[in-house]
Amino acid sequence: MPREILVTSALPYANGPIHLGHIVEHVQSDIWVRAMRMAGHTVHYVCADDSHGTSIMLRAEKEGITPEALVAGVWQQHTADLADFGVAYDHYSSTNSDANRELTNQVWKALEAGGHVDAKPVKQLFDPEKNIFLPDRFIKGECPNCHAKDQYGDACEACGKTYNPTDLIDPYSVVSGAKPVEKESLHFFVKLADFEALLQTWLEARRAAGGLQSEVVNKLQEWFADGLRSWDVSRDAPYFGFEIPDHPGKYFYVWVDAPIGYFAAFKELCASGKKPELAPGDFERFTRPGTSTEMVHFIGKDIIYFHTLFWPAMLHGANLRLPTQINVHGFLTVDGAKMSKSRGTFINARTYLEHLDADYLRYYLASMLGPALTDIDLDLKAFEERVNSHLVGKWVNIASRCAGFVHKFFDGKLADSLPAAERARYAAAAARLAGCAALYESRDYAAAMRVIIEVAGEANAYVAEHAPWVLAKDPGKRDELHTVLTLALNYFRLLTIWLAPVVPAIAGRALAFLGEQPARFNAAAQPLLGHTIKPFHALATRIDPKQVAAMIDASRESLRPATPAPGAPAAKAGAGGVTAAVPAAPATVSIDDFARLDLRVGKVMVCEAVADSNKLLRFELDAGALGKRQIFSGIKAAYPDPGQLVGRNVVFIANLAARKMRFGLSEGMILSAGTGGSDLQLLEVAPGAAPGAQVK
Ligand code: 2FM
Ligand code: ZN
Repeated sequence: MPREILVTSALPYANGPIHLGHIVEHVQSDIWVRAMRMAGHTVHYVCADDSHGTSIMLRAEKEGITPEALVAGVWQQHTADLADFGVAYDHYSSTNSDANRELTNQVWKALEAGGHVDAKPVKQLFDPEKNIFLPDRFIKGECPNCHAKDQYGDACEACGKTYNPTDLIDPYSVVSGAKPVEKESLHFFVKLADFEALLQTWLEARRAAGGLQSEVVNKLQEWFADGLRSWDVSRDAPYFGFEIPDHPGKYFYVWVDAPIGYFAAFKELCASGKKPELAPGDFERFTRPGTSTEMVHFIGKDIIYFHTLFWPAMLHGANLRLPTQINVHGFLTVDGAKMSKSRGTFINARTYLEHLDADYLRYYLASMLGPALTDIDLDLKAFEERVNSHLVGKWVNIASRCAGFVHKFFDGKLADSLPAAERARYAAAAARLAGCAALYESRDYAAAMRVIIEVAGEANAYVAEHAPWVLAKDPGKRDELHTVLTLALNYFRLLTIWLAPVVPAIAGRALAFLGEQPARFNAAAQPLLGHTIKPFHALATRIDPKQVAAMIDASRESLRPATPAPGAPAAKAGAGGVTAAVPAAPATVSIDDFARLDLRVGKVMVCEAVADSNKLLRFELDAGALGKRQIFSGIKAAYPDPGQLVGRNVVFIANLAARKMRFGLSEGMILSAGTGGSDLQLLEVAPGAAPGAQVK
């Protein structure tokens, strides 16, 4: 029976780039969506950026731009990175949208009306300099257990102990360095215990239907045994998020409107007219309780609590449908260890794409992904070998060995029929591969890849045994040659159809070569006969180990700033669930890396303090042949009398991408030395240097 399914991936935080940890999840869900569509089901696939919260607010402030401008820029990068990885969302939204505000308010009002909300005062650590309440990850101090310095407010990375931020010895605010003080404020709580019976029933039903992995069921049972505590859902201003209706100065905690963002993205998709089979009214149909449609979430193992307790509780409280499946995956390691910036294994999606084909990683991840929550290791050597041996050596190779003969001797046409023995071989292979539909559906991609590669091995053995290159030399054996080529290319087609969800770009090129675009797995049941194929062009090339090495080099922390916003991605890297190790001293760079920087001399024509910023000076530089440049530089504390800098020769990076800031466009970066704050000295060039001269 064809099913109608809404599929989501966890919403990436809009405070940093997509990295390979995220890619595991988006590729896992994308493969599932493609496979379910090829099995004949109707699937809607949505995601969004998770755009709210303290980290994003502080990061925008640090960059001198509005949070809206920050999340708009990140959205551009995220959507480009995901699309270039072949992850084909029907709609990719942002939680900072009107649709999400409306739905969040709707859910909230229903929870309030149902009597599920409490208000009570909460004591929390407060930064007296920044005037903000500090989330646990924005407070550091000495671990009360092992006395390691600089540990976060919720847990010690040295000894693993968890505690309250108030337990830290000598705590300080990561934002300002100030000593936090305790301050009381009124918070709203959702009474999760009200939903315990519902959650238990939902859990049982999901477990019986196979919609929750056993590890997840066990976790939930532990949480039930501990008792469900009320959930603190409000945060005080200043906060980048949605203000709670009728409660000025109180905002929804980011984790309230984030999952509702799944619905908001789907609602926008229904209204968009992007998919002919969806109309605005379908949102209602998918989201009302008792709907026959399904809702399937893909998430990492760090956010199970939010998705299996808070999210179903909110949905039930608002009289909306509950999730059908919550599919949880493990974390990504690289070469057996946590992704690390200093080792170059904290790899951003874009850096990967600059060196390697997206489908290669998709294939490798598929060969590692199973239905359990186990972590997935990107073993770079195995990655290279598996792609070269399986994709290029066993799959693409069949076509590259046979296509030329079909064109040379048979005008590009496959035989009209196959002898019984070949028909039987094909039928057996097709039947074996048909088993992959269930493996895809149960997310056992690794098992599916094993079957596919075994059949590819069989196909290669057939070609080797019948050696078309030998048959081609004998004009008396044309029929035999035609049979061998036809079966070989049908093996290739069969493998292509079953690999298509995993390697959509290469499969697309392969099917274009075969001159057809089957949309369903069942097209593989019958061989393609009497059909004319197109000329063959290389579909995929082997990975050269140098490409992998170059990607690692480019990922190594070197010229890039070491850390993003305080307490941001380094603390918790989002849906991929990877954590960045602390960067070591910058690694060596090549002369080519250095040459990529266009360093120039600029003569200061104007230098003034920016009124609304406590950090920035605005410079206008005479850059000679490059013209005039406006640059904002965060050195106000070091130069209280900016007018004195007029006439000086400074050094600036001329080819840094221009950045739109709240105060105007910044067209480069002026170099200074020091530790920051008032300890910064501008790099100066001796007076003889001409404006615009290159610094080499
Ligand atoms: O953990 C994270 O990266 C969150 N941004 C995921 C949100 S998923 C959903 F609930 F919105
Ligand atoms: Zn400790």
